[in-house]
Amino acid sequence: MKIYRANLVFTPSCDAFCMLPRGYVVVNDAGVIEGVYEQLPAQWSAVPVEDFGDKLLIPAFNDLHIHAPQYRNLGLALDLELLPWLNTYTFPEEAKFCDLQYAKRIYRRFVHELWMQGTMRSAVFATAHTEATLLLADLFIEAGLGAYIGLVGMNRNSPDNLRNTTDQLIQGIRDLKTHLDRHGKQGLVQPIVTPRFVPSCTPDMLAALGKIAHELNLPVQSHLSENKNEVAWVKQLEPDSTCYGDVYDRHGLFGQQPTLMAHCCYSEGEELELIKRNHITVVHCPMSNSNLASGIAPIRHFMNDGVHVALGTDVSGGHNMSMLRAMQYAIQVSKVHYGNSQGKIPFLTSCEVFYLATKAGGAFFGKVGSFEPGYEFDALLIDDTYLNYDHYTLQQRIERYIYLGDDRDIRRRFCRGQELCEPKM
Ligand code: GUN
Ligand code: FE
Repeated sequence: MKIYRANLVFTPSCDAFCMLPRGYVVVNDAGVIEGVYEQLPAQWSAVPVEDFGDKLLIPAFNDLHIHAPQYRNLGLALDLELLPWLNTYTFPEEAKFCDLQYAKRIYRRFVHELWMQGTMRSAVFATAHTEATLLLADLFIEAGLGAYIGLVGMNRNSPDNLRNTTDQLIQGIRDLKTHLDRHGKQGLVQPIVTPRFVPSCTPDMLAALGKIAHELNLPVQSHLSENKNEVAWVKQLEPDSTCYGDVYDRHGLFGQQPTLMAHCCYSEGEELELIKRNHITVVHCPMSNSNLASGIAPIRHFMNDGVHVALGTDVSGGHNMSMLRAMQYAIQVSKVHYGNSQGKIPFLTSCEVFYLATKAGGAFFGKVGSFEPGYEFDALLIDDTYLNYDHYTLQQRIERYIYLGDDRDIRRRFCRGQELCEPKM
């Protein structure tokens, strides 16, 4: 049993921060929270308390959409929109991951930075290369970080050196699962079925992915309705589909297993109904949507409509690995949307984006992302002393941290109760 004392801030719902000034969190030996308290109950009085003083203790961040092999392009190559951006900058960079030495060098830095930014869980796209993807999974395990890792399916409209055949892909997914099963069913790193997006995958490949997701009981992630030219292209490629999401749905890749769909900037009407009916998690990636001039998803409208939403950086469409920046962008683009919609679509608040970055995203990993009994203890200890030079309330401190904080403020990182030390780079 471990007991930590600090200013606890978390969001059981998106409506308000829950704040326990100088509160206690009791964590059992499995890394699961027994309870949070203002006063420590007598039953725990024999357990030593680790007191973090006036620092903030918050749930760690969960990035529900990120591309590991795009790490080297961070902050680069943002002068084109999606389809030419993929062909000009992104596919050539991902093709390099056939070289295991290169993959190791970049993936080490990538995993190190997730740790640094306090992102304890992520849903990751690797590449079409099986060996490099196994290596990425090993680096996550070594670091103690949680992740869903996706070997990326691509067999059309992409360069030859970045394709896999359906057979190679299915064998690769089996290999990845076998590899990760050695760490047990409850391991922090798990496989996820990952068709890149409809333009990259033939119907045969999509059908095989739907089948294996069902057979191995794996979740699914992909991209959906990110860019207008992309949506038009999908309509041309799959003229019989009723909408972009329908193409995934027909192949068992749209909520038949737990499913993440990144972007959804142009999901409306029938597609939005399908998203709701099939309990898809929409992953909002506001940094990427701004950088690639994609457009803005009406997130507050989706949330009002009962859609489950989480937050992602979409590195390297997003230019920064920090979920704080993703939160800040989410608020700011929602305010642009509010202004442009004559106030019809409400904007997001600090506590709503905090909820998206912690509890809403964490839900994909189980009971993760909050300080409630039964939740896995994923946490960050934040020293905001330099921001907190005057009499700020806890609520003001967390709001300032979202806008002004960065990785340098993180003092300790915990994932499923384990404190994580700095991974090798
Ligand atoms: N759609 C297909 N592939 C990608 C990618 O790598 N990044 C983004 N933002 N959208 C995609
Ligand atoms: Fe993406």
